[in-house]
Amino acid sequence: MESTRALRYYEHGVAGDVLVLEEVPLSRPAEGQVLLKVLATPVNPSDLGQVAGKYAILKPRPAVAGNEGLGEVMETGPGVDGLKSGDWVRLPAAAGTWRGHLVAAADGLLAVPRDLPLEQAAMAFVNPPTAWRMLFDFVDLEAGEWILQNAATSAVGRYVIQLARLNGWKTFNVVRSERGATAVREAGGDAVAVEGDDLTQAVAKHAGDRPPRLALNSVGGESAIALSRVMAYGGTLVTFGGMTGNPIRFPTRQLIFNDLRLRGFWVTRWLEEASARDVRAMYESLFDLIRRGDLSAPVAATYSLEDYKKALEHANQPGRGGKVLFVPDP
Ligand SMILES: NC(=O)c1ccc[n+]([C@@H]2O[C@H](COP(=O)([O-])OP(=O)(O)OC[C@H]3O[C@@H](n4cnc5c(N)ncnc54)[C@H](OP(=O)(O)O)[C@@H]3O)[C@@H](O)[C@H]2O)c1
Repeated sequence: MESTRALRYYEHGVAGDVLVLEEVPLSRPAEGQVLLKVLATPVNPSDLGQVAGKYAILKPRPAVAGNEGLGEVMETGPGVDGLKSGDWVRLPAAAGTWRGHLVAAADGLLAVPRDLPLEQAAMAFVNPPTAWRMLFDFVDLEAGEWILQNAATSAVGRYVIQLARLNGWKTFNVVRSERGATAVREAGGDAVAVEGDDLTQAVAKHAGDRPPRLALNSVGGESAIALSRVMAYGGTLVTFGGMTGNPIRFPTRQLIFNDLRLRGFWVTRWLEEASARDVRAMYESLFDLIRRGDLSAPVAATYSLEDYKKALEHANQPGRGGKVLFVPDP
């Protein structure tokens, strides 16, 4: 195999406009390398942000889009121990994942158990650890405590709901449509409000004298401000996304009178800074939960690379209700 198909961009812009499907060269795996077949790779908001040139890490262009996915080892180069043909691994992000195949260094590839559901495994590397770390690393939550989050229909939002239930916490979820509210209730959310509802009343009704000490914000703007207004004294608002792109103008009074703590989280940094042992231990726990069916996110649809325009249009639809994935060779 001397080439493979890949979705590349030469300029930053809207993914549907700037991506092109091209044949790109593929070398045989050399010393310490493996040839990987891409089994499935999701379309995440950060992938679109990166193509648009609005992300902390930008790839040298022309670049292959996509950063997360599941690969199967097709061939190993000389000197590769511990991986063999047929093994599943996390795709490395640097070379781009929206492609048919890639050659990568075997060293440091995360092995993935083959008994996981394929699509769930392909989405296991970014959003589940994000939900996990935000729930465990910021506030020492006690049994029965409420966690507040917006964009609760997102993959992260659903993992937060599932992990909270497993750990005896409750979730107060904010969504942007009635349809989203129904989906989140069905997904196990304990309480749901729609953006613009009176959150003060709704949170007081459910959480009573235990207002949330942890809130997770991936929307920004007014939505984040609304979360900040209903939090406990000394509560922590963790911002990890900005789906509206709107800045957050925090009410001064929440900082002074309520000692609100504003924090940020970026899973990429956590994965870089944590020890290999901690990273492996976390993924092993997540893989166990995925295997048992305790952790999952819905898939809205899968597309071939050829249908990328349809895939990207779908990924941009409000209320899509699940992830869009590329399955290069169904
Ligand atoms: N910092 C990190 O390390 C990190 C890691 C993973 C993810 N993230 C961020 O977390 C967020 C969620 O990621 P994901 O992959 O879970 O998302 P996703 O499954 O693709 O879902 C996108 C979510 O954003 C909501 N949304 C989109 N535009 C919105 C708007 N203008 N106002 C309010 N809500 C809006 C959608 O609501 P509807 O269902 O109503 O369409 C949906 O809930 C993204 O911002 C992503 O970049 C950050």
